[in-house]
Amino acid sequence: MRIQQHPILKFKKENRVNFLFEGKEVYGYEGETIAASLHALGIWEYGEGAHSHTPRGLFCAIGHCSSCLMKVDGVPNTRICVTKIKEGMIVEKQHPRGSL
Ligand code: FES
Repeated sequence: MRIQQHPILKFKKENRVNFLFEGKEVYGYEGETIAASLHALGIWEYGEGAHSHTPRGLFCAIGHCSSCLMKVDGVPNTRICVTKIKEGMIVEKQHPRGSL
């Protein structure tokens, strides 16, 4: 879900940015974080807990908790809630810890 209209705030959706999530082409808009783009597309599961193996998603959404760690362009343990999207980037789930 993406907010389309607001009585006070303006949301610019200028440049669409395409990237890959788990091998599928998805999109967001320039200036958004990976998490914001995925969340707007209804994708809320980004990995699993190291011990419980239960689904993980956003928790703090400000880069403090590590709940949203994913592999981005081959780099594990990337906090997607504070990482902006780029054209052609590859985003993958981690199971359960990152590896090189
Ligand atoms: S959701 Fe907490 S660091 Fe990303």
